[in-house]
Amino acid sequence: MDDKTNTRLVFIVFLLCLFLESRISFAADTITANQSLSGDQTIVSRDFELGFFELDGRHYIGTWYSDRVVSASTIVWVANREKPISDRFSSVLKIKDGNLVLFNEAKTPVWSTHLTSTTTSASVQAVLLDSGNLVLRAHSSSSEFLWQSFDHPTHTWLPGAKIGFNNITNQTQILTSWKNSRDPAPGLYSLKLDRSNSYILLWNRSKQYVTTGYWNASSNIFSLRPEMRLNYVYNYSFVSNENGSYLTYSLYDPKKASPFLISVSGQVQQLIWLTPFRPWKMSEPRQQCAVYAICGAFGSCNEKSGVLCNCLMGFEQKSPRDWALQDYSGGCQRKTNLQCGNSTSVIGTKDQFLEMHSMSMPENELHVKVGSAKKCESICLNNCSCTAYAYESSNACSIWIGDLLGVQELVADDAGGRTLYIRLAASELMYLKNGKGDADKRFLIIAMVSAAAELLTIIFCYFLWKKRLGKRRTQRRKYGVTKINYGAGGGKNETELPLFGLKSILNATNNFSEANKLGEGGFGPVYKGILPELQEVAIKRLSKKSGQGHQEFMNELKLIAKLQHTSLVRLLGCCIEKEEMILIYEYMPNRSLDKFLFDPLEKTELDWGKRFRIIEGIAQGLLYIHKYSRLKIIHRDLKASNVLLDGSMNPKNLRLWNGKDF
Ligand SMILES: *[C@@H]1O[C@H](CO)[C@@H](O)[C@H](O)[C@H]1NC(C)=O
Ligand SMILES: *[C@@H]1O[C@H](CO)[C@@H](O)[C@H](O)[C@H]1NC(C)=O
Ligand SMILES: *[C@@H]1O[C@H](CO)[C@@H](O)[C@H](O)[C@H]1NC(C)=O
Ligand SMILES: *[C@@H]1O[C@H](CO)[C@@H](O)[C@H](O)[C@H]1NC(C)=O
Ligand SMILES: *[C@@H]1O[C@H](CO)[C@@H](O)[C@H](O)[C@H]1NC(C)=O
Ligand SMILES: *[C@@H]1O[C@H](CO)[C@@H](O)[C@H](O)[C@H]1NC(C)=O
Ligand SMILES: *[C@@H]1O[C@H](CO)[C@@H](O)[C@H](O)[C@H]1NC(C)=O
Ligand SMILES: *[C@@H]1O[C@H](CO)[C@@H](O)[C@H](O)[C@H]1NC(C)=O
Ligand SMILES: *[C@@H]1O[C@H](CO)[C@@H](O)[C@H](O)[C@H]1NC(C)=O
Repeated sequence: MDDKTNTRLVFIVFLLCLFLESRISFAADTITANQSLSGDQTIVSRDFELGFFELDGRHYIGTWYSDRVVSASTIVWVANREKPISDRFSSVLKIKDGNLVLFNEAKTPVWSTHLTSTTTSASVQAVLLDSGNLVLRAHSSSSEFLWQSFDHPTHTWLPGAKIGFNNITNQTQILTSWKNSRDPAPGLYSLKLDRSNSYILLWNRSKQYVTTGYWNASSNIFSLRPEMRLNYVYNYSFVSNENGSYLTYSLYDPKKASPFLISVSGQVQQLIWLTPFRPWKMSEPRQQCAVYAICGAFGSCNEKSGVLCNCLMGFEQKSPRDWALQDYSGGCQRKTNLQCGNSTSVIGTKDQFLEMHSMSMPENELHVKVGSAKKCESICLNNCSCTAYAYESSNACSIWIGDLLGVQELVADDAGGRTLYIRLAASELMYLKNGKGDADKRFLIIAMVSAAAELLTIIFCYFLWKKRLGKRRTQRRKYGVTKINYGAGGGKNETELPLFGLKSILNATNNFSEANKLGEGGFGPVYKGILPELQEVAIKRLSKKSGQGHQEFMNELKLIAKLQHTSLVRLLGCCIEKEEMILIYEYMPNRSLDKFLFDPLEKTELDWGKRFRIIEGIAQGLLYIHKYSRLKIIHRDLKASNVLLDGSMNPKNLRLWNGKDF
């Protein structure tokens, strides 16, 4: 290597260093009375790091997993979640009068540990423990904590933290969701232990929508959670006495799980690592639509389509910006005001009702005893605050007063579906009926915008991995899936690939809707879809003009199904029906590497460790296909846009089909 090359190399390394916004850490876990934390300084413990992090120009003090990208899913605690600061370099976190205090640019305290009993402040120090607990103690050798972040959790429940209540101090630990994926301010959903020893999920601190049932000390489970008995991941211990109650947990194998957290979508979630590469996502409640008022007032929830929340017909999003961040709580508003109660209204333009089939009924219905559908309608029509009614048979008239919450669209043949009549201004209804095309177009645009936004936002939960296929076959059968065997006939080493019906693919992609489209490859468009069993997947619809027959297609599949490597995108299934040839792949939430490398903001998420892991993964994948796989493949198009990243930023460096990438 000559001098010139050397200089160039040094220069490149220097540039790379500049691009990576490196964090200067104290390399210590303690803030003492004569130290302060500011700018990019952090303190670190074994797995965690504490310092300032930024979201959309707002800065917060928080704790995150030190080996992961700082993002909404890896931040485990936030101090000033409601009071962000704008300049982290002129703000400081320091010990002041025995408290840990955050001072903003104007030197005003915006957050404090608020201890009143002042200890000799000179020796007080803040320590980030290996468990992720930030504690304040009187002096370095003290084992007692004056204050600890575990007592003031935000949205995450780390192993070792106690979530419960103290009967003496009246203190209760409440986990509260973030407002949205870019704002850690308290959202609408929270989890706590109530005084009768059951964990409950609450909407807006008041409405309970999930309970675990009481703690049963003799069987060591919550009464409505019998599955706890089969648990082999967590070592739970529940304590209840006259001083209070709490549950805490540890992990039998600390490497295999991530903490519990309450997500923006109102679910308690956790990623369970069954093996290093096979996570299983736990969500409670399992159905997103079961979360109380998830789509806000006049929003409607749909589990089956790619878009979770939509506004009811005749309504529009109150805050499209929040919706784009998956915060639907603001709900929807009428496009046209009702005529009812409007003294200046034109006579003869009474409000009317829009008939909607296969709906699950909104919350808070009122029952009225009337004998006919006409009567039911007129009761609603004559009360200006009545927004909807439903009529089943005699005496089963229901009306709703005020905002409609928790409306859900079911599939057409769902037994629980009923017909709901929603009150709209006559002119709006006329518009919907006459200009249906236009209305559909509007809906499509909204759907496209929210789906695109979903992709672009840093996804709050990174639990987007796929479950391993070989498992849960019995459940899969429910969805009409059969599997085909590949290999030299009946041998033990043959690969099984599930074959999906076209109907379930159509359901998963909303009939290949534009809104679900992720992009277009050389062989046809790719859609994002949600299959009941696999959850999120990427669905590739091979274009008919690729000119392959079924037999050739099957031959290709046999080959691809044999490729199994952690650095390759997994083929999860396929569909061959009518003219369609469809491949189902794992969904890669972080998209491709170029999106990170060439984006000034995202780039900062790629630290050296991550870069190294990605490079190593690419090399491993290449080595595998070139040398060790049963099917030898030459990768002829290695570039950043062909390296996909999974939820944990592991590279999947091959998108293969027909020997070429796509
Ligand atoms: C900070 O305080 C600690 C103990 O209180 C002491 O050991 C250390 O020397 C001090 N450092 C500075 C820079 O004053
Ligand atoms: C604790 O709260 C309960 C009800 O919320 C109240 O009755 C009681 O007086 C409180 N106790 C203390 C010590 O604050
Ligand atoms: C939540 O409750 C408060 C009152 O406790 C109320 O003012 C607010 O409007 C509620 N939020 C929503 C979204 O309903
Ligand atoms: C607690 O569990 C035991 C064993 O499963 C059961 O026999 C008992 O009825 C339960 N107690 C309550 C109060 O549910
Ligand atoms: C489970 O937790 C308890 C208390 O937290 C502890 O004493 C016990 O050793 C743990 N068991 C295992 C197998 O880790
Ligand atoms: C809380 O303490 C009070 C008295 O201090 C006691 O009467 C009550 O039973 C305790 N509650 C629980 C749940 O133990
Ligand atoms: C409850 O708290 C008191 C005072 O802190 C303590 O003496 C007692 O042992 C505690 N009870 C239990 C069951 O831990
Ligand atoms: C009342 O009705 C008139 C005519 O339909 C309309 O122009 C006006 O905006 C309505 N007022 C309200 C408050 O809805
Ligand atoms: C509308 O109905 C509700 C519930 O029955 C009732 O509380 C309210 O007073 C009614 N309003 C009018 C204007 O009749």
